[in-house]
Amino acid sequence: MSNKKYHLSEEGSETSIELPVLSSTLGQDVIDIARVPETGCFTFDPGFGATASCESAITFIDGGKGVLLHRGYPIEQLADKSDFLETCYLLINGELPSPSEKEAFESTIKAHNHVENSVEQFMSGFSQGAHPMAMLCSLVAAMSATYHETTDVSNADDRILTIHRLIAKMPILAAMCHKHFTGQPYVAPSDDLSYSENFLNMMFGAPDKEADISPVLAKAMDVIFLLHADHEQNASTSTVRLSGSSGANPYACIASGIAALWGPAHGGANQAVLEMLEEIGDEKHIDEFILRAKDKEDSFRLMGFGHRVYKNFDPRAKVMKESCDEVLKELGLENDPLLKIAKRLEQIALEDEYFVEKKLYPNVDFYSGIIMKAIGISPEMFTVIFATGRTVGWISHWNEMLSNPYRIGRPRQRYTGYTKRDYPG
Ligand code: ACO
Repeated sequence: MSNKKYHLSEEGSETSIELPVLSSTLGQDVIDIARVPETGCFTFDPGFGATASCESAITFIDGGKGVLLHRGYPIEQLADKSDFLETCYLLINGELPSPSEKEAFESTIKAHNHVENSVEQFMSGFSQGAHPMAMLCSLVAAMSATYHETTDVSNADDRILTIHRLIAKMPILAAMCHKHFTGQPYVAPSDDLSYSENFLNMMFGAPDKEADISPVLAKAMDVIFLLHADHEQNASTSTVRLSGSSGANPYACIASGIAALWGPAHGGANQAVLEMLEEIGDEKHIDEFILRAKDKEDSFRLMGFGHRVYKNFDPRAKVMKESCDEVLKELGLENDPLLKIAKRLEQIALEDEYFVEKKLYPNVDFYSGIIMKAIGISPEMFTVIFATGRTVGWISHWNEMLSNPYRIGRPRQRYTGYTKRDYPG
């Protein structure tokens, strides 16, 4: 730790304050601003572009260089050599498992591979066609009722039990949302299939007939879960941390993360990508949409392009693109009209001056939407699948926060409303 002197100026006066600079193992060091209120001011940073909200040892991103590390391991290596469940173990525990630890972890997740009967009853309250994200958010919130009595957030063993339950049950809830949305009967989870095969079977199988799942599609699904597993302090993870900082029930905290993820500026972008491709409809309309995306007067944005942190390329998008090509080849869909629009759009945006200058590259949502559409997943389910993969990241951050000294999150504000005034009469 070192100290640096900062001069803060206000009209007509100048204040000096010496603030500690805390070092990071990678990336920028941070100025500890806890003493700033002594100057009579707060700091102001809407959108948190310059503010680290916590300390974390889970994930590191270098947006300029396109680097994403989980516990130090590059995402490309994890996607190539690891699998989703092993990456879950890594995120939670900080180290890769030994073969026996991996086997034990997989057995523990399988032991939780079921949901209470009450979930079906709960689902029956939703109309067919209700948005799957609305259903998922409510189902996970409802888990806080089911498991409230057995969840003491100050107990490390209870926290680990919560983590295992969530990793195991999220794909079941996600697939139930899909079946309810499409008006089909639920398919029970199977202990004989891998995590991703089990999910695809619950999505595309029938109660009396297992789905025919190709290894290429099962691998692609696993890669989708893995690439979404964590992404440090994004909007939904920060929401989970903030909710958890009050000591709230963890299932309710995860439901708050799901709500934050739903928006089109965050996880909802993968559904928005497909809707945009459908709206474009034909390659001959692409130029018109590119012009709209560049027009300051038009609120339209090219969905699946740009990222708050990655200003070079999104390393997840690179892996997802490779997976996308494999899936399209496996399914013989290289000539699908919507996918052709996507490829052309990608090419134009990568060459167009506006997108190049603003560093707007295709992000992970651009390719994940295309893969999921090719697999036959409806766009309304895309963000649900993102949430299923991201749950381990959310709950790892929640657990990291609760395992260390923490305070309730309570940002300050710059007040711009009325000064004090009297009630009339
Ligand atoms: N299409 C057209 N122009 C864009 C786009 C886009 N997709 N994204 C950003 N821009 C422009 C903005 O208009 C702005 O232009 P200006 O400097 O002339 O005003 C500039 O690029 C910077 O944009 P900001 O909104 O300031 O960037 P920010 O970091 O706040 O937003 C975001 C990032 C939300 C991802 C944005 O790029 C976007 O809306 N993209 C489309 C939605 C999307 O794909 N979201 C998924 C994100 S990835 C994820 O959550 C997994």
